[in-house]
Amino acid sequence: KAYRVVALPGEGIGPEVVDASVKILQHLAKLEGFSLIIDYALIGQPAFNEFGNFFPTQTSQVCEGADGILFGAVTKGGILELRQHFDFFINIRPVRPFEILLDKSSLQPHKIQGVDILFVRELISGIYFGPSGRTEDDNGAYGYHTMKYYDWQIRRIAKVALSKAKERRGFLTVAHKENALPQIPWSHLVQEEAEQFPDVTVEPMLVDNLAMQLVREPKRFDVILAGNLFGDILSDIGGALVGSIGLLPSASLNEHGFGLYEAIHGTAPDIAGKGIANPLGTIGAVILMLQQWGEIQAATSLLQAIERVLTQGYRTADLALQGQEILANTETLTELIIEQLSEQ
Ligand code: NAI
Ligand code: MG
Repeated sequence: KAYRVVALPGEGIGPEVVDASVKILQHLAKLEGFSLIIDYALIGQPAFNEFGNFFPTQTSQVCEGADGILFGAVTKGGILELRQHFDFFINIRPVRPFEILLDKSSLQPHKIQGVDILFVRELISGIYFGPSGRTEDDNGAYGYHTMKYYDWQIRRIAKVALSKAKERRGFLTVAHKENALPQIPWSHLVQEEAEQFPDVTVEPMLVDNLAMQLVREPKRFDVILAGNLFGDILSDIGGALVGSIGLLPSASLNEHGFGLYEAIHGTAPDIAGKGIANPLGTIGAVILMLQQWGEIQAATSLLQAIERVLTQGYRTADLALQGQEILANTETLTELIIEQLSEQ
């Protein structure tokens, strides 16, 4: 097997966590015997500096025909265009705590133990993509953003969420706000699609209540489907549940299974350049990429290697240290994971 991956490091801690992930991927390729090509391209501010565009055609051309894109982070421009360009409408965000890190959760360990949530977020429509602008009228200057969803856009992401729920525990919660936004009938459309999935139970839930229930009783959830805005906000709660936003991965896919893999965090300007970022979110995204390729053995070895390094006590600074734990920076943690991979 041969894979070509495009690395888009971006800005802030993006290059630090992408570098760590590329090293691990290269090592895995050697161990598992698949061939791997890594191409680098620019996105965000570095792309703007070079080409006058946050997502230049040079970059989209490099991504064309690749087997996956490994993305770091950007501050403002580039990522929305990239997601839209390849029709990455499916955003998958698994939230599953590491057993050894239960004490890092914002919740008590017994509340977080066994949590296994899959967020399915619609990624290329809604208020981030609707008509927007700044103008003025008799009342003064104003700005506007518009939430717009075609029914088919909701139906196609609903089908993805329903089939994920079917493969899992058969329970799908739909985030909506139809009391205030009745023209976009998420729960109604999802329930219509659910007629094709008789073994999935659909539970519509107002998004504000959902935010509270996520913190109160995260174990009650299986798959959570949300539009772009609500999914963005709700899934960050996942960071508090598992102990650090630096731990959570995400995959953005189009209907052909082509995907963009990244951590859910941003550029983390407060720690950028210090070499202390937690790379496990992006490395987790590598696991999602391997699973998408069908490289299940490689995905499993990588997850086990991470678990062993954590069990030995190594932690990046975002997971505030206690007792016997050992502080590790990005590079050290990465080297330890590579060592563990080799020992398997
Ligand atoms: P952020 O996720 O960058 O940081 C939030 C907090 O979490 C910070 O205290 C940061 O130090 C910490 N953190 C995040 N990732 C970490 C990691 N891997 N290891 C250790 N600590 C970590 O979110 P924030 O501060 O709201 O946004 C900063 C910039 O990132 C903004 O310009 C925003 O637009 C951008 N952003 C980009 C995203 C992307 O490229 N996909 C996603 C989210 C935000
Ligand atoms: Mg976000």
